Amino acid sequence: MLPNYMTMTVALAALPLVACGGDNDQDFYDSTASSALGSATNEATCATCHAMDDAKGYSGSSFKNIAYLENYKGGGADLLGAVNACVTGWMGGTALTADSEGFIAIEAFMQSISDPAVTTPNPLMPEVLADEAAYEAAYAGGDATAGEAAYGTYCGSCHDTALPVGPGFSPAIAGIAVRTAGRIAQKVRTSGPPPSGMNDASDSTPGPMPFFEMSDLSADDLKNIIAYVKSKG
Ligand code: HEC
Ligand code: HEC
Repeated sequence: MLPNYMTMTVALAALPLVACGGDNDQDFYDSTASSALGSATNEATCATCHAMDDAKGYSGSSFKNIAYLENYKGGGADLLGAVNACVTGWMGGTALTADSEGFIAIEAFMQSISDPAVTTPNPLMPEVLADEAAYEAAYAGGDATAGEAAYGTYCGSCHDTALPVGPGFSPAIAGIAVRTAGRIAQKVRTSGPPPSGMNDASDSTPGPMPFFEMSDLSADDLKNIIAYVKSKG
């Protein structure tokens, strides 16, 4: 039997080591290696909220052309801080260190889809209105029929699958239809107190749901989504 054992050892030794860096970098963006960075219950990956190309429908910025920015949304000084705002905030995990396997892989993956010449930070512009009543007024009059497809694009990835995000889970549409239009709009626009630096002190709905800026989700789409959600109540 010894020869077989020897052969196996030689074969294993000949395999390239890909555990850190290389082909597996993307796993920390869109597979269980990514969701495992969060809390024990978390199933959201970076890809739940961030595209890797120009696709729409995501609350976070695309990871394309993000690796070399001078600073990050919410005033985060560096990439590690920005990544950790999401890992500890939305995903409910423990902050990564600069030399952790996860951060090294995430940075390498972003670099692989980023142009080093793109260094201008993305602006952070959450729509913060005075109170729920102000959101209610701003988002009245949507078209429920048009809202169905937009709901699928922007909300369904979490709410149609009861996706666990950090310590919470995404309620089904009937569970959000009971909220007022103003509360739904405020939730979508501000999310609530930290984690990602967009603390809106007036928000009464903290939780791991991310917020959508105007640049990620237009006012018309959100109006239509709210009309569709309310039609399911
Ligand atoms: C539940 C949704 C969610 C998850 C999961 C998530 N993020 Fe985020 N992320 C956001 C939101 C929302 C923002 C702030 C707004 C924006 O980027 O448009 C943000 C911002 C960022 C930024 C700053 C972007 C910029 O343009 O300055 C980085 C970098 C980032 N996230 C990395 C990550 C990484 C890496 C992961 C996975 C380990 C991750 N995020 C997981 C929602 C999420
Ligand atoms: C990344 C996953 C994710 C996406 C995308 C998402 N949600 Fe949520 N949502 C959650 C989670 C998780 C909760 C429960 C925890 C919380 O309240 O933050 C939630 C809660 C809510 C609530 C209940 C807030 C309350 O008052 O209790 C509303 C309303 C809501 N979402 C609306 C939406 C709408 C509308 C969209 C699309 C524009 C959307 N969500 C997109 C994950 C998501």
